[in-house]
Parts: sequence; C-alpha cells; structure tokens
Amino acid sequence: MLFLYLFLTCAPLLAHALASLPPRTSPPPNALVVRVNTTDSSEFGSLIDAVAALPTDESSQIVFVFPGIYQGQVNIQRSGPVTVQGYTTNPSSVSENTVTLVDSIPASAVGGSNDLSGTLRIHTDNVSLYNLDIRNDFGVGSQAIALSNYGDQVGVYACGLFGYQDTLLSNQGRQVYLGGWIEGAVDFIFGRLGQAYFESNTIAVKGPGSITASGREADNAQIYIFNENQVVLAPDANMTKPVVAFLGRPWGDFARVIFKSTYVTATLNPGIWSIWDPGDNRTDNVFMADWNTTGPGVPADATRLDWVTILDATEAAAFNISTAVGDDFANWVDMEFLL
Ligand SMILES: *[C@@H]1O[C@H](CO)[C@@H](O)[C@H](O)[C@H]1NC(C)=O
Ligand SMILES: *[C@@H]1O[C@H](CO)[C@@H](O)[C@H](O)[C@H]1NC(C)=O
Ligand SMILES: *[C@@H]1O[C@H](CO)[C@@H](O)[C@H](O)[C@H]1NC(C)=O
Ligand SMILES: *[C@@H]1O[C@H](CO)[C@@H](O)[C@H](O)[C@H]1NC(C)=O
Ligand SMILES: *[C@@H]1O[C@H](CO)[C@@H](O)[C@H](O)[C@H]1NC(C)=O
Ligand SMILES: *[C@@H]1O[C@H](CO)[C@@H](O)[C@H](O)[C@H]1NC(C)=O
Repeated sequence: MLFLYLFLTCAPLLAHALASLPPRTSPPPNALVVRVNTTDSSEFGSLIDAVAALPTDESSQIVFVFPGIYQGQVNIQRSGPVTVQGYTTNPSSVSENTVTLVDSIPASAVGGSNDLSGTLRIHTDNVSLYNLDIRNDFGVGSQAIALSNYGDQVGVYACGLFGYQDTLLSNQGRQVYLGGWIEGAVDFIFGRLGQAYFESNTIAVKGPGSITASGREADNAQIYIFNENQVVLAPDANMTKPVVAFLGRPWGDFARVIFKSTYVTATLNPGIWSIWDPGDNRTDNVFMADWNTTGPGVPADATRLDWVTILDATEAAAFNISTAVGDDFANWVDMEFLL
C-alpha cells in the first residue's frame, strides 16, 4: 500500500531517480551489530546498547542494524565519526527500510525541551545515518521530535522521519537530508541555527500547518535549502479538517528558507508562506523564497505577500548545496545521494 502510493506520487520525478545501490544485508568488517533478541554475545539487542559500547575516542565506527522495531531514545555523542546503517535490500529506497527506531515522548513531559523529546538525538559531529525509520509516535498536542540534530557534517540518507508537531529539529551544524521521507503537520522541519540541504525527499503532510519553521533570530548562517523534493499528503493524514499546508512560517523573525523545484500534490494554502501568528507576524527580516513550485497542489490563485522573495532562475541557482553547507561538502557528503 505504502509502496504503491510512493510509486504513484514519485512518477513525475522518475527522470531524476537516484541510482540504485547494491543491497546492504550484512555487517561490514568491524561493525558493531544490532539484532532484535540476539543470542550472540558479540552482538547488541538494541542501538542504545551498541552506542553505549562505542569507544570514546576519535576512531571511525560503524553500527549495523538488522531488521526490527527498536523502542527507546538514543543519543549519539562520542567524539569520533559514527555511521549507523540499517539492513536493506535497496539502499536508495526509503520505502523499503526495515529498521525502525521509535519512542513517543512529548516535549511537554521533559520540561518543554524539544531536544530531550527526540527519539534519536545527535550531539556530536561527523555522523551518517542510512536507511533508518525514526519515529516519535506521540501524535497531536505537543512538540515531539523524531530526530534532534545538533551535529556538524551530518548526512541523513534514505531515512524516514515520522512525527506530527516538530518532527525534525535541525538546530545546529551543517547537515544534508537526501532521498528520505519527512512526515508531520505542524512546523515539522525547524530549528534555530541549523544549516541544512534537502534533496530528493518526499515531504508528507499529515495535518494542517507549516512544513518549516526556521528559528533564525539574527543575521547568522542558519539556512534551509530544499531542491527537487515533493510534497504529498501522508497516507494516514487525518482528513477531519482540510489538510492545507504552507511551505513555512517564521519562528524567528530572520527566518531563512528556500524551496526550489518542489512538486506538490498535497494542497498548499494560496498564500504559500505564512506569518507566524496573527498579531505576531515576525516577517520584518525574513528571507523566504520559492522557485519553480509546481504540481496539482499549488492553487491557481496562489499569491505571495510582499515579504516573500520571488527568485528568477539565476538567483535560484545560487542557492545550492554549497550555499547551505559550504563548498567542502564533497569531503563528507555521500555523493551517491545527490542528483
Ligand atoms: C523478541 O523477544 C520478545 C520477548 O521474548 C518477543 O515477544 C518478540 O516477539 C521477539 N521478537 C522477535 C523479532 O523475535
Ligand atoms: C569531523 O571531521 C572533520 C574532517 O572532515 C575533522 O576535521 C573533525 O575533527 C571531525 N570532528 C570530530 C568531532 O571528529
Ligand atoms: C482528527 O482530527 C480531529 C479534529 O480535527 C480530532 O478531533 C480527532 O481526534 C482526530 N483523529 C485522530 C485519529 O487523530
Ligand atoms: C522544475 O521542477 C521540476 C520538479 O518539480 C523539475 O523536473 C524541473 O526540471 C524544474 N525546472 C527547472 C527549469 O529546473
Ligand atoms: C501581519 O500580517 C497580516 C496578514 O498578512 C497583515 O494583514 C497585517 O497588516 C500584518 N501586520 C503588520 C503589523 O505588518
Ligand atoms: C553554488 O552557487 C555558487 C554561486 O552561484 C557557485 O559559485 C557554486 O559553484 C555553486 N556550487 C555548486 C555545488 O553548484
């Protein structure tokens, strides 16, 4: 069902499909191995235990996770580089992921801290995640983060991020999100200082709200650039109220978000971009721009207010991966996942 849905909604972008990659179904040499109910004493029964066993040094480490559902929060914070790989027969396809990390902690239960609610938290640099579905299943009523990312040079490849309000906290550091699925309803890609580049993702809207909420509060480096993503209605969206989305609203009054070449099948509000709240617009210093936004979800009467920036093709081209994460991106980004 999910696969069929993805196939149908991906159709317009098939010309840009990612190259297919060889299956990854066994652990690489020297990897720590995670397997549900393992009886092998050299393996770990959870990612929590494997991460706790990583050496606290500068060495590069790989954790390989066999299929299953793993409950509980994980915090990656050792200093050396960490790669976490999920078992998959098709690494380029997020819809074929077999590993799920899940918890359901709302920020309201942890003193209002977005970070502390995160199912997977990254508090170190040089982390790469492959083929993991990361869920915060709390649902409606509080911020509840699936992935809380405070890392620099973090690559998130073909991962599914699932939540409702505030799914992905890109709060600090340079990050790429490539070939994944990002689902939520309210402000579900957000953060104060993150510099992030998003490409070839499916962004699934589960209820009314804004996809992004950039929390940029001053003229600093925070930026979210989206290129060639698609916006779809989540398969399990609650249709009790009409599900109408905005590309973004400004949490901080210097919010900076650029959407390029987005193909939209979910319904966008004709304003495309939103103020923060009535009486608290926060639009004075924002840079919110979209270019080549197309698809049946874009209303024929779409109009952008005067605080939205209209780009031409040349201006749009200057907002690329280097603009978001720096021109040394090839040193740490997995280039197989870039178009
Ligand atoms: C793991 O063990 C638990 C408790 O014995 C059991 O309920 C569960 O079905 C097992 N899971 C798998 C995938 O074997
Ligand atoms: C991360 O990798 C960069 C090189 O790409 C290195 O300079 C830096 O020290 C690493 N950081 C950590 C915390 O390992
Ligand atoms: C769906 O949304 C309505 C309000 O719009 C709410 O009353 C209802 O509980 C929601 N259902 C689920 C399953 O979340
Ligand atoms: C506009 O976006 C679509 C994807 O939504 C892409 O296929 C097309 O190449 C883009 N147009 C330009 C001029 O880049
Ligand atoms: C805030 O935004 C609303 C809706 O776009 C607009 O009508 C109003 O004039 C704005 N207020 C200020 C103070 O800019
Ligand atoms: C990004 O755009 C800048 C400014 O136009 C350009 O100098 C740079 O080469 C581009 N980088 C990539 C990776 O396309």
